[in-house]
Amino acid sequence: MSAHAPKPATVTLSPSHRAFDAQPDETLLAAALRQGVMLPYSCKNGTCASCKCRLVEGRVRYPFNPPDALGADDVADGQVLACQAVADGPVVLEAREIEQVADLPVRMMPARVESIEDLTPDVRRLRLKLPRGQRLQFLAGQYIDILLPGGKRRAFSIASTPAETDFIELHVKYVDGGGFTGHVFDGMQVGEIVRFEGPLGTFFVRLGSPRPILMMGGGTGFAPLKAMIEDLLAAGDDRPITLYWGVRTEADLYAKALIDEIAERHHDFRFVPVLSEPDAGWDGRTGFVHEALLADHRNLTAYEIYMSGPPAMVHGARTAFLERGVSEDHLHYDSFDFAPDVPPQAGA
Ligand SMILES: Cc1cc2nc3c(=O)[nH]c(=O)nc-3n(C[C@H](O)[C@H](O)[C@H](O)COP(=O)(O)OP(=O)(O)OC[C@H]3O[C@@H](n4cnc5c(N)ncnc54)[C@H](O)[C@@H]3O)c2cc1C
Ligand code: FES
Repeated sequence: MSAHAPKPATVTLSPSHRAFDAQPDETLLAAALRQGVMLPYSCKNGTCASCKCRLVEGRVRYPFNPPDALGADDVADGQVLACQAVADGPVVLEAREIEQVADLPVRMMPARVESIEDLTPDVRRLRLKLPRGQRLQFLAGQYIDILLPGGKRRAFSIASTPAETDFIELHVKYVDGGGFTGHVFDGMQVGEIVRFEGPLGTFFVRLGSPRPILMMGGGTGFAPLKAMIEDLLAAGDDRPITLYWGVRTEADLYAKALIDEIAERHHDFRFVPVLSEPDAGWDGRTGFVHEALLADHRNLTAYEIYMSGPPAMVHGARTAFLERGVSEDHLHYDSFDFAPDVPPQAGA
């Protein structure tokens, strides 16, 4: 290194005192992940707020995406987004570490499309076959990035559980004009090879927690929750689970048979479908799914909450749920933000 080359910055976490180096122009999250330090994250593009942490000492800058997920109050409180912030000199960060996924190797793998199945007119189930003799170690709820030409990537939650070692199941919703989902609905063939990286993210079921579980999914946000519920059942974890699933119409509830089966196997499982565009004759819940959950729970302090799906749902619910008493430690989410198509930085 020349005498004038920019030097790596030391990042120290509080309260753990764990320290790691960040290269010039490396985000705090990318630096942490590279050195086996797992900080919470989801979208990696500055919009979901999962990676929010507090800057206790030092300065950061945002050379990639602006920190859109930070409000004025957050900025005043010294909050930064680890997936976008780059250290300007040594920094101290107040941040939670997620030990459970820190040891899982993140791998790039090919997979063969084994089946493509319509779940609704705009949701497809993909089953991807992993290479013979190779398995992906992951925790139920995590996601993978499908790797596309030109360095683009698209995140998809794994809908299957780690117990299924040969296949990975994805639920893909069609997006009008969508580069990848357009291909899934018009062109993808059984036998096609896709490449992916994973497992990614810190949205996974906390099997050790004694708390009753509230789950909330919007659309294909059901996918990781399905994996989590099946994993809980497989682990013999019989805590009460209430699943809220928000979709437009009844036909979008694409896993009713599976949900009936879960209800038969689990002694305390409740399913609350919520339709935003209810069909004539629907006598169930209507409106925004997070409002249905809030209407049923004045106080959320006692729960472990998992939610996934459209960014607007996750964003609105996050604020409202925190106001109802759940702590950040017990509120877990993946926000299905769409990719900005910039070269990958954090987590790459
Ligand atoms: C952690 C994570 C997990 C995810 N898991 C899933 C999953 O399990 N299932 C799933 O279906 N999706 C999931 N997504 C979303 C997925 O990664 C893609 O963003 C989405 O499928 C669109 O990709 P695309 O290439 O088809 O569209 P793009 O080519 O990225 O987008 C095309 C156009 O549509 C817009 N757009 C993209 N997505 C949306 C949207 N949802 N609503 C409105 N406009 C949009 C874009 O701004 C762009 O203008 C997840 C996202 C994240 C971050
Ligand atoms: S805002 Fe950083 S991971 Fe989503």
